[in-house]
Amino acid sequence: MRLLRKRDTGVCEITIIRNCKMDIKDQYRIIEFGEYGDERGNLVVAECGGIDVPFTVKRVFYIYGSDDSVIRGRHANRKSEFVLINVSGSSKVKIDNGFETDIVELNRPRMGLYLPTMLWKDMYDFSPDSVLLVLCSEHYDGNEYIRDYDKYIEMVGGNKDRHE
Ligand code: TYD
Repeated sequence: MRLLRKRDTGVCEITIIRNCKMDIKDQYRIIEFGEYGDERGNLVVAECGGIDVPFTVKRVFYIYGSDDSVIRGRHANRKSEFVLINVSGSSKVKIDNGFETDIVELNRPRMGLYLPTMLWKDMYDFSPDSVLLVLCSEHYDGNEYIRDYDKYIEMVGGNKDRHE
């Protein structure tokens, strides 16, 4: 989805352009956090508020004890942005923008995955030692979650019949 400003009427209108395919690799971002390990062990720093994490963190949750048969997520968010970090073990994230998908494996404590709003995400293939830490830009509000994939596709003007 893209916003276009129209100036020809003299009034600034905002038009929502649907069916606008944006390269999915330009939407999510891999973050490499600073590491300050020494002989005492490792220390990874995620500076928030626009430094490493591009937003102010209002909520943190973590997922563990999910095994490789589980698929979590299965939603998109109207308002929340996220950074996902596997602080232990590994998992995979399938990212879908309605037009194309990409899979990112989270397998290092220094690695973060930034997800902006309105991307559909599935988290799966959790290793037995997986602890998936999630930083969020918003407090929890179930109403901003889109959990119906067909509705999501309709909202972004995407193509649910694509073959990948
Ligand atoms: P859910 O969104 O299904 O988790 P995931 O996306 O990781 O699969 O959330 C599971 C339950 O936890 C659901 O009842 C909502 C609740 N929940 C909160 O109350 N606050 C939160 O910040 C999150 C992420 C979930």
